[in-house]
Amino acid sequence: MEFKVLPGGDITGEARVPGDKSISHRAIMLGSLAEGTTRVSGFLEGEDALATVAAFRAMGVAIEGPEGGRVTIRGVGLHGLRPPAAPLDLGNSGTSIRLLAGLLAGQPFASELTGDQSLRGRPMGRVIAPLTLMGAAIQGGEGDRPPLRIAGGHPLRGIHYDLPMASAQVKSCVLLAGLYASGTTSVTEPAPTRDHTERMLRGFGYPVARDDGVISLAGGGALQAADIDIPADISSAAFFLVAASIAPGSDLLLTHVGINPTRTGVLDILRLMGADISLRNQREVGGEPVADIRVRYAPLHGIDIPPQQVPLAIDEFPALFIAAACAQGRTVLRGAEELRVKESDRIAAMAEGLTTLGVANEVLEDGIVIEGGALGGGTIRTFHDHRIAMAFAVAALRAEEEIRILDCDHVATSFPGFDALARGLGLQISAMAD
Ligand code: S3P
Repeated sequence: MEFKVLPGGDITGEARVPGDKSISHRAIMLGSLAEGTTRVSGFLEGEDALATVAAFRAMGVAIEGPEGGRVTIRGVGLHGLRPPAAPLDLGNSGTSIRLLAGLLAGQPFASELTGDQSLRGRPMGRVIAPLTLMGAAIQGGEGDRPPLRIAGGHPLRGIHYDLPMASAQVKSCVLLAGLYASGTTSVTEPAPTRDHTERMLRGFGYPVARDDGVISLAGGGALQAADIDIPADISSAAFFLVAASIAPGSDLLLTHVGINPTRTGVLDILRLMGADISLRNQREVGGEPVADIRVRYAPLHGIDIPPQQVPLAIDEFPALFIAAACAQGRTVLRGAEELRVKESDRIAAMAEGLTTLGVANEVLEDGIVIEGGALGGGTIRTFHDHRIAMAFAVAALRAEEEIRILDCDHVATSFPGFDALARGLGLQISAMAD
C-alpha cells in the first residue's frame, strides 16, 4: 500500500486515536498469566498487539475478541501456559519478542521466537545477556538477532541488572523473568523509561518496589485478574499533535490520551518549540493518567532537544523531525542512538526523506541536525517502518507539492485506520494498492 498526500490543508475537529500499543501488549501478557478473567477495553487492534494475542493463544490461553476494542482473557496463572506447537511469530513487534523472551525463560518448556524481516534484523543481545545471567538457556541467531531459542526448564535466579541502555523492553523482560526467579530481581536504568509494566503488575496485585531508582520484585507471587481500560496511544496522537501544530488554521481535540509522565516528552518538546498545547479533563484511568489534548496551530522554532527528554519521546522522533523541518531555525537532537535500532534506522530513514523534500539536515551518529525551511514534495521510502510513513504523511500539510509514500502496509502495526482518521480531520491523503 502507498499513500499519496496532496499539499496543504489544516487539521480540525475531534478524534480518539487507537489504544496504546505498549499497554495493549502488557494487558494480554499479564491477563494471560493472571488467575481469573481479565476484561480489556480500548485495546489496540493493530498487528503488533494481535501478534501477542496469537502467541498466548498458541500457548493455550483462551482469548475472546478483540471486538470494538474489547478483549476477554481467561487467565491460566503464572504456571499455566502450555508449550506452543510451533515457533511463535511476533511479526514486526519488538515489544512482543523481548517481553516474551523474559516470560518464556521461566517456563518448563522450550520455545522459539521469530518475526518478520525487520524484527529478524533487530538486536536481541540486550535481552539474552541479562536472561543468561539469571540462569536461562537462550540463544539468538547470527549477531544475536532472532530467532531466539529458549531451552526452558532452567531454574532462574534473581539478579540485579544495571541496564546499559534506556529500554523499557529490556527492563520489562528482566522484571517478567523475575516473576519466575528465586529471590529478588532488580534493575536500574540510565534514564527513566515507560513504566507500564510496573504499573500493571501492581494493578494485578503484584508488589513492585521503586527505591532510589532501583525497581525490584520478588519471584514466586501470583497475579490476580483485573479489568483494564486502555487509553489512546500518545505515540499515535503525536502525528496529529505535530500536524495541527504545523498547519495554519488547525484546531484539534484528541480525547482520552494516555499522558503517563514517562511518555510525554513529545508534549514538552513541542511546547519548547512554541506549540500551543493544553491538557483538559486530566484523570486517572486504571492506574494510568489520561487527558484530552487540545492543540492549535502555532509558529514553531528550532531548539536543542534536552537530553533527558529523549527516552520520554523515543517513538515520537519521526513526527518531531517533521515539526523541526517546519520550524524556524535549527533543531539539534543528540543522545538518540537507540533510534538506529527501531523498526528501521530512524535517523537514516528520516534524513533520506527530509533530503527528498529539500530540508537541509546533517546526520550525527546519535542524532540529527535539521534546518527548518520550505518543504517541497517527492517520493519517500519508509523502509517498512510505520512511523516513517505517518510522519511524512503529515509533512504534506506544509509541502509545496504532492508527497508519495511507498510501502505503507506497516502502518497497521500500530495505527489501523490512520489514513481514514487523518482524512476526516483534513489531511488530503489517499491510500492505494501498490
Ligand atoms: C516499548 C519500549 C520502547 C519503544 C517501543 C515500545 C515498550 O522500546 O520504542 O515502541 O512497550 O516497552 P525500547 O525498549 O527498545 O526503547
